[in-house]
Amino acid sequence: MATLADTPFDFATLPEMAADVFTAPLAKPAHVGSDWLEPAQTDYTAEDHAVWDDLFARQLEVLPGRACSAFMAGLERLDLGRGGVPEFARLSEELGALTGWSVVPVPMLIPDHVFFWHLANRRFPAGNFIRTRETFDYIEEPDVFHDVFGHVPMLTDPVYADYMQEYGRAGWKAMRYNRLKALGALYWYTVEFGLIEEAPGDVRAYGAGILSGPAEARFAVEAQSPNRIMLNVDRVMRTDYVISDLQPTYFVIESFADLYRQTVERDFDRLYQSLPAGFTYANSAVIDVDNVLHRGTQEYHLRGGRGSGAQPV
Ligand SMILES: [Fe+2]
Repeated sequence: MATLADTPFDFATLPEMAADVFTAPLAKPAHVGSDWLEPAQTDYTAEDHAVWDDLFARQLEVLPGRACSAFMAGLERLDLGRGGVPEFARLSEELGALTGWSVVPVPMLIPDHVFFWHLANRRFPAGNFIRTRETFDYIEEPDVFHDVFGHVPMLTDPVYADYMQEYGRAGWKAMRYNRLKALGALYWYTVEFGLIEEAPGDVRAYGAGILSGPAEARFAVEAQSPNRIMLNVDRVMRTDYVISDLQPTYFVIESFADLYRQTVERDFDRLYQSLPAGFTYANSAVIDVDNVLHRGTQEYHLRGGRGSGAQPV
């Protein structure tokens, strides 16, 4: 007998988000269609381009030795430091030749189902706007620097590029079972805040949330405070996370091939049927099945975290 799990998905067509699926409501600006794509990339001012150049220079002081090799190679291949905000058309051409991905402009955070659809078709939606000097250090909404500098270099890695597409495809099943929160945690702990052990004892960052900010690369890779635990997809999808501060826990992969394999081989039907609607583990928890590389002191968060004056140590 055919079951719900056997019904195939059509990844080429924008999916419908059922009304009873838990997701963040976002108001669509009137000028974009159901694909949420901007008609063109913003016409950046000279100051906008200068902000990009300064952000770029700041990150390049921090990232060598802390960012993974694939990221540094991607930065170079795409020549993201040639000056000013990169043109998406040029990026898409170069990325397309490498891994078949393109970069498309969107006005802001977009709804989950639209995001999944773009990823499943190898389109990376990137924020069109760039932060100002006032929000130079920290922004709530991802801008073009976070999206292009943080995410796009990784898409030059063929295995990682496949993982991102699989992540998008996984969205259909998460919507079917109303478990977007769990799938969101996987994105958070891999694509945004993931670490990779490139050689024994040599842990580096590949997550865009780490790579595009000034403080988190040092904290994630070197500080005593956070836990560093080997990634287990089941466990990660049950784990809460922090949105507006450094992470109490980072999950570490062995390789992008391992991340890809863990994701495509997962029986998500079974997993979603067993997952509760909320998270099981606190963001600082260490549990008995964990393969722990570093058990954190949690000193930074115990002292109050962001805004308290606590040092990210
Ligand atoms: Fe991001």
